[in-house]
Amino acid sequence: MKLKQLLIAVGTLAIVSFSQSAIASEGHGPALKHAEIDVTDQAQIRRGLTVFTDVCMGCHSATYVTYKGLMDYPEIGLSREEVDELRGDSAITDGMRTDLSPEDAEASYGKVPPDLSLIVPARRGGANYVYSLMTGFVHDPDGKVPEGNYNEYFVGNRIAMPDPLAWLDHEPEDTAELERDAQDVSAFLAFIADPHQNERRALGCWVMGFLLLLTLVLWRLKVEVWKDVKKH
Ligand code: HEC
Repeated sequence: MKLKQLLIAVGTLAIVSFSQSAIASEGHGPALKHAEIDVTDQAQIRRGLTVFTDVCMGCHSATYVTYKGLMDYPEIGLSREEVDELRGDSAITDGMRTDLSPEDAEASYGKVPPDLSLIVPARRGGANYVYSLMTGFVHDPDGKVPEGNYNEYFVGNRIAMPDPLAWLDHEPEDTAELERDAQDVSAFLAFIADPHQNERRALGCWVMGFLLLLTLVLWRLKVEVWKDVKKH
């Protein structure tokens, strides 16, 4: 390929990928806040689990995460005793289900809270969105939406979820703690949405290392095989 053609091809590719990322980042409302999360950090994921079971599970389930999973995934690694305490009457192979029935949720909040197992990949912005949502409760500028149901980051702003971390009107000295709870629960939700992500990344590194080594070996082999062939 001639240099000019190559340059045109690279340029076109750059423009296409730039416009695609511009479309992808287009969203509703204000730009999302950045959540400091680490899906390999056991301490953070466990703190997030506690926020989830203490607060969110009052209304939400995470059906695809079993109590056994909380023991088996090294990123959580609860002991059998800790899991038994958490699960109560549920079987160890059960998913994490809220006690709130859909009928009662509908009657109390007007909507059934969604299952949170896959909420991170299901929403644009993922963990950043969940974090922003948790810390996005403000007073309705028009004073129409009931207190605690106006969220800067929710599409349309009126959300049926009543401010779970009591962010609205919190004392300034509690800001850091609430932000941490919000980030921790976002980390937990990001982890459970894809519990094998760390394993897969580690495997990916090994595969890349192997391919690199193989390339070196094959290159040396090629040099060896061709060494007696004269160049014209
Ligand atoms: C008192 C009940 C209640 C509690 C507690 C609660 N939620 Fe919700 N949540 C809801 C309801 C109801 C909705 C549906 C909101 C809507 O569609 O207007 C919802 C929706 C959501 C959504 C989806 C928003 C969207 O974009 O559709 C997320 C994410 C969420 N909750 C996260 C959490 C987290 C994290 C916690 C714990 C810190 C939590 N919720 C605690 C009731 C609750």
